[in-house]
Amino acid sequence: MILHLKNVLTDEELATARSLLADQAAWVDGRLSAGAQAQTQKNNEQLAQDSEAARALQPLVLGAVQRDPLFFSAALPRKVFNPLFNRYSGATNTYGAHVDGAVLHSRTTQQWVRTDLSCTLFLSDPDSYDGGELVVKDTFGDQRIKLPAGDMVIYPGTSVHRVDPVTRGARMASFFWVESMVRSDEQRRLLFDLDMNLLALRKQHGETPETTALTGTYHNLLRLWADT
Ligand code: NI
Repeated sequence: MILHLKNVLTDEELATARSLLADQAAWVDGRLSAGAQAQTQKNNEQLAQDSEAARALQPLVLGAVQRDPLFFSAALPRKVFNPLFNRYSGATNTYGAHVDGAVLHSRTTQQWVRTDLSCTLFLSDPDSYDGGELVVKDTFGDQRIKLPAGDMVIYPGTSVHRVDPVTRGARMASFFWVESMVRSDEQRRLLFDLDMNLLALRKQHGETPETTALTGTYHNLLRLWADT
């Protein structure tokens, strides 16, 4: 499932993020943090994880996703990787086809995270740069994703994906991974659909014996499938 979450960041948070990610921020070669296959494809910049800007931005991003009910429903998070930040511009402007490592070490939280879901939170106005689409291969073909600043995409960590070259301007984003309580993308999808349709039914008809019963079904499925 590929899901678009709108307005994850407020305008104020976006402005804060952009000012912390200005040119004087601690940008380093993105290859420093890539695995062997990804290193051959990766040509971007990343914010040093131990920099002041990273330490200020991580709680800002985590706070924003954690207050988003769609994020919780779609990801059913057990562990969230400390958010990272990247920039594509000038001569360091692309990341070819690759897969993310299955298990990655989150430095701030000092824990290993299984990468069930990948998240990209767009920080640059899409009109301010050309190219830079996140291209995710899924069963329906290539999905080309370029979202408004402050919006986020969640996609399966199992996918081959790339970032196309940025040919004008700069594309900045935050990215991180989620280990879900529900490991299977298919099961997570079923739970998400059930949850969203229950929300819609309640909006139309209020609480009924059927919505109560189906809410029970949701929780019973979650109980069957979740690991905490
Ligand atoms: Ni990746």
